[in-house]
Amino acid sequence: METHVSEIAPRIYRLSTLVPDVAPPHGFTFNQFLVDAEEPLLFHCGHRGMFPAISAAVAKIMPLEKLRWISFSHLEADESGAMNAWLAAAPRSQIAHGGLACDVSLNDLADRAPRALADNEVLDIGGRRLRFLATPHVPHGWDAGLMFEEATGTLLCSDLLGQIGSGPALRGQEIVEEALAAEDMFRSMSLTHNTVETIRRLADLAPKTLAVMHGSSLSGDGRRALSAYADGLQTRMRAAAPA
Ligand SMILES: [Fe+2]
Ligand SMILES: [Fe+2]
Repeated sequence: METHVSEIAPRIYRLSTLVPDVAPPHGFTFNQFLVDAEEPLLFHCGHRGMFPAISAAVAKIMPLEKLRWISFSHLEADESGAMNAWLAAAPRSQIAHGGLACDVSLNDLADRAPRALADNEVLDIGGRRLRFLATPHVPHGWDAGLMFEEATGTLLCSDLLGQIGSGPALRGQEIVEEALAAEDMFRSMSLTHNTVETIRRLADLAPKTLAVMHGSSLSGDGRRALSAYADGLQTRMRAAAPA
């Protein structure tokens, strides 16, 4: 298992590992994002079993012990599985997550006390500012949240817009239709009364880069991509609603 590193925005690195056995024959990538700054932040921990490959990839960019912040969208093996391995490898590191996630899970599960963030609170990591966005049930999980890196306009968007296969690190609007097709296959999104509204709130940030957890990230018009994704989900929800 090998983790590939690409810089998808200035000093924002995508760490990508293809797992051929998931969604064959194309396979499925699991991506983490390292925001390099005075206090570097890793978004997504990866599975515990992938920790050796992912940490070796981070070590190509900076010494592991320099890692200061660890975050992810929601509790799940690919998002948070290796959180305690990271806390052990980087003694100054701390998990930063929404207050709800801390109260519901992380105060108990994390080996060091997490830093709780409020909706819209900015985490200043020295040269970069990450805005925490509470997005309950989007993509899934009561505890779900996302982060927006303001200097580069990069939205760390977890499972939103995920695609199967191992495309290039960055692509354009074509990922939207592929992501909707993947959603038709996996049915992983929690489609609730606030799903579409929450994704439209993210679109209003007008991101220039969407850092996607599975498949290619998007470079370009993030507002357009998220709006089209919200439209596609809304169409599916209307079609599924009882008459
Ligand atoms: Fe997930
Ligand atoms: Fe995921």
